Amino acid sequence: MTTFQAFRIHNDASGYRGGIETMQTDALSPGEVLVKVAYSSVNYKDALAGTGKGKILRQYPLNGGIDAAGVVVASTDAHFKEGDKVLCTGSSLSETRDGGYGEYIRLPSQWAIPLPDALNLRESMILGTAGFTAALSLLRMQDNGQTPALGPIAVSGASGGVGMLAIDIFTRAGYDVHAISGKAAHFDFLRSLGATECIDRHQLAFSGKPMDSARFGGALDNVGGAMLAGLLPLIVPYGNVAICGNAGGIGLESTVMPFIIRGVSLLGIASAGIARDIREQVWHHLASDWKPRHLDRIVTREIALEQLPEVFERMLAGESFGRTIVRVGHV
Ligand SMILES: NC(=O)c1ccc[n+]([C@@H]2O[C@H](COP(=O)([O-])OP(=O)(O)OC[C@H]3O[C@@H](n4cnc5c(N)ncnc54)[C@H](OP(=O)(O)O)[C@@H]3O)[C@@H](O)[C@H]2O)c1
Repeated sequence: MTTFQAFRIHNDASGYRGGIETMQTDALSPGEVLVKVAYSSVNYKDALAGTGKGKILRQYPLNGGIDAAGVVVASTDAHFKEGDKVLCTGSSLSETRDGGYGEYIRLPSQWAIPLPDALNLRESMILGTAGFTAALSLLRMQDNGQTPALGPIAVSGASGGVGMLAIDIFTRAGYDVHAISGKAAHFDFLRSLGATECIDRHQLAFSGKPMDSARFGGALDNVGGAMLAGLLPLIVPYGNVAICGNAGGIGLESTVMPFIIRGVSLLGIASAGIARDIREQVWHHLASDWKPRHLDRIVTREIALEQLPEVFERMLAGESFGRTIVRVGHV
């Protein structure tokens, strides 16, 4: 039994709260693989969970953090041994199991992914759920017929974690990317990641018509609401829109026209619970042909557990810029 520090979230008679606590490995959620965590990351969902502004946890208390990467210190499953490097994203972390914001995490072996050779632990958490989601979106779009020849891919919420990684990943995979962002001051940065055009979301005037001149081969939408409704009429025949986020709202007011006249597909992206074979496929791409070229610049902050509350607030205020990783412990 080992004593360690974790950012733990409670919801009880004293209210909803998260903070650093000392706990013991015996108290961690069950699983076959005990891991000493090196890095975690901060995703929008972590900010919702850490502040209580979204209902993410389904039981309390739990350690926050939907991502974790570290080194196995004990395993009752023969597939893993002491010293193996592993990562985990989603997979019920910080929903029904203790997450990555603790110096130790216990994982069911089915959710522990061996760290691919071409990634180090830090890089795997710069990617984290954000990179996994961007790559899963590309995988699903391509499975449904997306090709670079259909035209540019619009990426909304482009200055955020998923957005920046999507620019890099889609560009690397041969697509022309048009970034949609509310932060015009960062357009040069988004271009340096590969975006060939940057569109100011505050200047975007969607026509509101059921159909409009097609200008995008497809889209990855992080924003939802009016953004998603506005993008659908602009997609070329048989293009795909992957919807993965709701930073701008959960509503969707649209018509059937893009779907029945242009054959546009709306693909739902839910990274958290996806099957292991797809999970491995996505990580294989992220460590090879889709590995982003600018990870060192997309990671804009490296913080300690104590700094999480401040990062959560900024994220929920729409002030994200790239990826924040959390240095949890030294392995
Ligand atoms: N489905 C899944 O499996 C999955 C996985 C990961 C993330 N997500 C979702 O994807 C979204 C992005 O996640 P993230 O971790 O990348 O978050 P993030 O780093 O905070 O990025 C969110 C970006 O969305 C834009 N934005 C924020 N508030 C907005 C508003 N009110 N209206 C329009 N745009 C707004 C901002 O970009 P600009 O200023 O550049 O416009 C912001 O940088 C979140 O909604 C998250 O929940 C879903």
